[in-house]
Amino acid sequence: MPSPDTAVRRTDYTPPAYLIDTVDLAFDLDPGNTTVTNRMRVRRNPQAAGAALLLHGQELELLGIEIDGAPCHDHRLTPDGLLIEHPPQDFELRLVTRCHPQENTSLMGLYVSNGNFFTQCEAEGFRKITYFLDRPDVMATYTVTLRADRQRYPILLANGNLAEQGELPDGRHYAVWHDPFKKPSYLFAVVAGQLVCREERIRIGSGEEKLLQVWVEPRDLPKTAHAMASLIHAIRWDEQRFGLALDLERFMIVAVSDFNMGAMENKGLNVFNTKYVLADAQTATDVDYGNIEAVVGHEYFHNWTGNRVTCRDWFQLSLKEGLTVFRDQEFSADMMGTESGRAVKRIEDVRVLRQAQFPEDAGPMAHPVRPDSYVEINNFYTVTVYEKGAEVVRMYQTLLGRDGFRRGMDLYFARHDGQAVTCDDFRQAMADANGRDLTQFSRWYSQAGTPRVKVTGHHDAAARTYTLTLRQECPKVGVEMLPGTPDKLPFHIPFAVGLLDTSGHDLPLRLQGDDGAAATTLVLDFTEAEQRFTFVDIDEPPLPSLLRNFSAPVIVEHEYTVDELAFLMAHDSDPFNRWEAGQRLATRQLLAHVEAIRRGELPSVDTFVIDAFRQVLRDDTLDPAYRELALTLPGESYLGEQMDEIDPAAIHAARQYMRQRLATALHTEWLAAYHNHQTPGDYRPDAASAGQRGLKNLALSYLSELNDTHVTQTAQVQYEHANNMTDRLAALNALVNGGQSAQEAASAALAEFYSRFEQEPLAIDKWFALQAMQRATGAQRVIDTIRTLLQHPAFTLKNPNRARALIFSFCAGNPAQFHAADGSGYAFWADQVLALDALNPQVAARLARVLDRWRKYTPALRGAMLDALNRVAAHQGLSKDVREIVDKAIG
Ligand code: TRP
Ligand code: ZN
Repeated sequence: MPSPDTAVRRTDYTPPAYLIDTVDLAFDLDPGNTTVTNRMRVRRNPQAAGAALLLHGQELELLGIEIDGAPCHDHRLTPDGLLIEHPPQDFELRLVTRCHPQENTSLMGLYVSNGNFFTQCEAEGFRKITYFLDRPDVMATYTVTLRADRQRYPILLANGNLAEQGELPDGRHYAVWHDPFKKPSYLFAVVAGQLVCREERIRIGSGEEKLLQVWVEPRDLPKTAHAMASLIHAIRWDEQRFGLALDLERFMIVAVSDFNMGAMENKGLNVFNTKYVLADAQTATDVDYGNIEAVVGHEYFHNWTGNRVTCRDWFQLSLKEGLTVFRDQEFSADMMGTESGRAVKRIEDVRVLRQAQFPEDAGPMAHPVRPDSYVEINNFYTVTVYEKGAEVVRMYQTLLGRDGFRRGMDLYFARHDGQAVTCDDFRQAMADANGRDLTQFSRWYSQAGTPRVKVTGHHDAAARTYTLTLRQECPKVGVEMLPGTPDKLPFHIPFAVGLLDTSGHDLPLRLQGDDGAAATTLVLDFTEAEQRFTFVDIDEPPLPSLLRNFSAPVIVEHEYTVDELAFLMAHDSDPFNRWEAGQRLATRQLLAHVEAIRRGELPSVDTFVIDAFRQVLRDDTLDPAYRELALTLPGESYLGEQMDEIDPAAIHAARQYMRQRLATALHTEWLAAYHNHQTPGDYRPDAASAGQRGLKNLALSYLSELNDTHVTQTAQVQYEHANNMTDRLAALNALVNGGQSAQEAASAALAEFYSRFEQEPLAIDKWFALQAMQRATGAQRVIDTIRTLLQHPAFTLKNPNRARALIFSFCAGNPAQFHAADGSGYAFWADQVLALDALNPQVAARLARVLDRWRKYTPALRGAMLDALNRVAAHQGLSKDVREIVDKAIG
């Protein structure tokens, strides 16, 4: 366990002793030594105690310090920064510091990527640029001067509006930027270098004209159209759905290829991983196009939810991230354009939640949406804060309705614009705007874990009623298991239900004692540990459709028969639950197969999944995108979570067995689907075309299970003639995972792909990732391929995208190979965590998390995993990022 003095606690929050009103920063940019002159107005905070001023600072060289124009001697450097013991009440502080961007491999603070300068300040990176009160509740107005060599750095960008620019002696030039909005330091950004932009002027609802720019390296300019279109859609959508308008004259997006995460919402100057900006038909897949739209939307939406109203402290991170993910999910859903498209988006989002967040919420890193303590805040940019946080926000909308949610948002901005606030402030605005008591709802913020809801139904023929009994439980997880943590209390769960009659139609629903109009879906206010809901006028035993549209982030347990699931799959009016029924059916069968395989038996050949899948595959009234999701088996990691003890090899064998069964039994149907969903003509990334490709390529991937030379030929032809990356990559995947008969073709295609895209880093990432996630063919071990690829000239640990493509894809995306019984995967993992930690602790800590569920595995694997964890933990000089993860994992 991390020693208590290194952990930061939510309840220890105190307001800052000083406030900073204005910051005037001047950068003399040079890759080796950059000098930063920082002039700021500082004053005592009337709301706070304490007289000393501790400015955060890391890896800085202090060259000068003046207070009100006179050299200051009353200061001292500490491990955390710069301490001024007795500053005046109100003064100007002038600091000159130096940093070393070229050597900065952490990609936090000021760094160099492909010869250009970038910054990343969230969460605590500004302190690597200058000494500052680097916390989100200190908000200031910034003016920034950038000076650099004109030839090497023709473009100089910072937040806000360009105030001035001009020439300097010695071939240098400068630009002055002013941001009129007060902001916390984490939203600060500068970018400088050889960049070009696509720009567009638009008029917003108020009639004002705005300048939009997407900045990239010159060769990437042709790949910026989709990002620009996405930005314009996002601006329009936020005005329409939430009445929120763009507040700056100019809004810029910049792409950078070395980046720790997806993108960053710096005020007026969003910085993006190239992966979430650049797209053209040849290099980006349909999924990439969708992700770009979502991330461009996400960062843009932060301008209100995060920037105009920000977080008081980092424990409130979900205030901006959960809310903004919810907003980007709704944006993407609306952009799908159809009801069935909305359902597809919802299913995809829930899959992410279940595959990544549910395991997190059951493991050693489990934490509430609003955590109570952390050692390293970067470790808390988690699927819990983001995705479960978005579900929590969605529940307000489910409880209050769309209009009620909008009233809550309006009140939130009316109250808090320009402030740094808490999750409680958001909840209070929702409550007050709707006259609702949301006190109990606050437990979604304070308690971790995924609640389980057990449901039983009882039909009373004489009384013509149907009663659902709901029981919720949520045992302690993660830090909640430490002694002294209070007992957990029931959650306020909006539980959406419908009841189907024997012909599959929705029954009109009315609760006993409620005389409102009947509806076909009711949202039950489920607030107690056990609660009964009685529906009246129900003549025959109905079939319940539970948790429609996944109305709360819980696990529903109900004893459905196989026939009932097949019935729901065919008839439920809620598209999410139709999909869900199919997944339950498949999961049940797959888990039985896993058990059989573990006993050394052959899986029994049941036909109910095959029949149900055949019906879906043949049903042309269903959207192809929806059918693709319905016909995709639950993932190996999701299946593992359903077991008491994870056995990755058995899970993989069971899933493969089922895929082969489905491939064989539905052979003609898959061939028909393949041929009927071609998309001739120019590539178009719209949802309908993407859906066609999705189903077609799923068909190809099932067919490739057959180890059949005809299929190999089909994949080869698709590979060669593809006019887009989606089809080319799907074909390559079918070849690489197509068994012995496809091996020669697979090698040839891999080589062709590499030479075709040698100059396209994002495509080469796909090349590494696809090989890292391949299945074993014959006796070949994938780990040997991985170790060979590590030596490939195109591989580097310094670029996070590349490291993720090879290392994370193998460790997290190829469970059957990674968990090889000989422990070779774990040894590789430990090597790479340590190597990465020396360069980039933030990324290393993400990789470290791959083993944090070790206790859930079979005994032999568990021991080997613990050995690997101990090896990392024993390393001297581990970053606190990785230290926190391995200490919590080992426990
Ligand atoms: N706030 C960013 C987002 O969600 C993510 C982010 C946080 C980030 N810290 C970062 C991005 C560090 C890059 C590096 O939109
Ligand atoms: Zn965000």
